[in-house]
Amino acid sequence: MTAMQNVSLGAHYVVHMPQPDDFAFWRERARALIQCDVPPDRVSWVEPGGTGDLFAHGGNARGEKRLPVPDKDAPPVRVSKRFMSLARNAGLHSDPERFGLLYRMLWRLQSSARIMEDKADPDVRRIEEWDKSVRRDSHKMHAFVRFREVEGDEGEHYVAWFEPDHHIVRTNAGFFKRRFANMKWSILTPRGCIHWDGKVMRESGPAQRSDAPSDDPTEDLWKSYYASTFNPARLKVGAMMAEMPKKYWKNMPEAELIPDLIASAQAREAGMVAAGEREERQQPKTLAEISSAITACRDCPIAECGTRAVMGEGAIGTPLMIVGEQPGDQEDVSGKPFVGPAGQLLDECLGTAGIDREAAYVTNAAKHFKYVQRGKRRIHQSPTAKEIDTCRWWLEAERAIVRPRIVLALGASAARGLLGKTVSISQARGAPIPLDDGSELWVTVHPSYLLRLDGDAREEHGALFARDLSAVRARLSELAV
Ligand code: URA
Repeated sequence: MTAMQNVSLGAHYVVHMPQPDDFAFWRERARALIQCDVPPDRVSWVEPGGTGDLFAHGGNARGEKRLPVPDKDAPPVRVSKRFMSLARNAGLHSDPERFGLLYRMLWRLQSSARIMEDKADPDVRRIEEWDKSVRRDSHKMHAFVRFREVEGDEGEHYVAWFEPDHHIVRTNAGFFKRRFANMKWSILTPRGCIHWDGKVMRESGPAQRSDAPSDDPTEDLWKSYYASTFNPARLKVGAMMAEMPKKYWKNMPEAELIPDLIASAQAREAGMVAAGEREERQQPKTLAEISSAITACRDCPIAECGTRAVMGEGAIGTPLMIVGEQPGDQEDVSGKPFVGPAGQLLDECLGTAGIDREAAYVTNAAKHFKYVQRGKRRIHQSPTAKEIDTCRWWLEAERAIVRPRIVLALGASAARGLLGKTVSISQARGAPIPLDDGSELWVTVHPSYLLRLDGDAREEHGALFARDLSAVRARLSELAV
């Protein structure tokens, strides 16, 4: 029997999702339905208990036996990486239509593989909006969950109440586990709860606001901490309201202080020194901490651009750190540094110079893709000196953790990110510049500069770039002895 024969003519299929955030379940069923050639208008996707009830059990697989089974030799399902990464997040949105629309998109991808690149397509736009909204919700959960201490039979336990807009609780459990690994805590939400006892993560059904404590003595500590770190120089009331919607205020003890702090902001601003601001922030201790912090960072306008913050990639303790300017279009999509055309040229030239990229730590001076939209294209814009300087804190934090012996700056933005001042590449290249921790900075051009050249100029500057990389290679060998 062929896949087509497998499907009863005109039949309508109902897929009961066991959980509203079970993307793996959706993916498996969607693949089978596509392989059986079932069009989107003949499938309904039903969630357990409507929109809430993240951890409800039991409704699994009602009507499942009616789903068709693909032939063993059915053609594979075509998916693009971009679709999968957006769909994974979009599937957590609270819109009950999401699984149906994702299925429609998967169906459309079978005949037009590049459909995800069409920014004007209404389905693509909707999935992108869902993805963005889910990411924003996770960001708010990371930023606004506040634990209150309660005394239980087994000692101290911290409890927080949070009201997510989407089905993000389970997917964010790992973040809180890493961050509060040594505490016993519970996060209660109307969509389901998670509990960590220092060893094991548990889940339970939806909770109510009244299940969580509303105040305790640690709130005073919070409030004084918040008052001392509140930064009037950065105060933008509109942005603050958007970032910290009032619905979260009631869970945050420090919110009580906000009206007074706003009132005195002008007076305090004069007394603040910009350089001192960052010192009050805690220095991240792991690359994972930096990675989640840059995702939440809104210290400069670039953070609002692009899809995501792109974290550096590579091992701690590696002798070479390579620093570019900022992620480009493809890096923004994939979340990895130097994977686009400049990255390919870099890989090629590193290979020729005998430098193993896999053994280096590769990152950027700015962590977000800055661009302007022209039609369907996103055109790269260089970060300003101020934006590079703002992002410098993260680059320095990465350098402090990775501890490379040699840092290679690709281009002027990277050099500024490392030195905190602008240098001329032609003057700085060819010799090491000592850095504060005893490591050496080597400066060369950015590979995308070479991509913009052709003819003799490309050859000439390509040779200079190769010479710079060979010098770095030689220095790495010397240091390894
Ligand atoms: N250009 C950069 O500077 N960095 C990247 O990651 C990609 C392109």
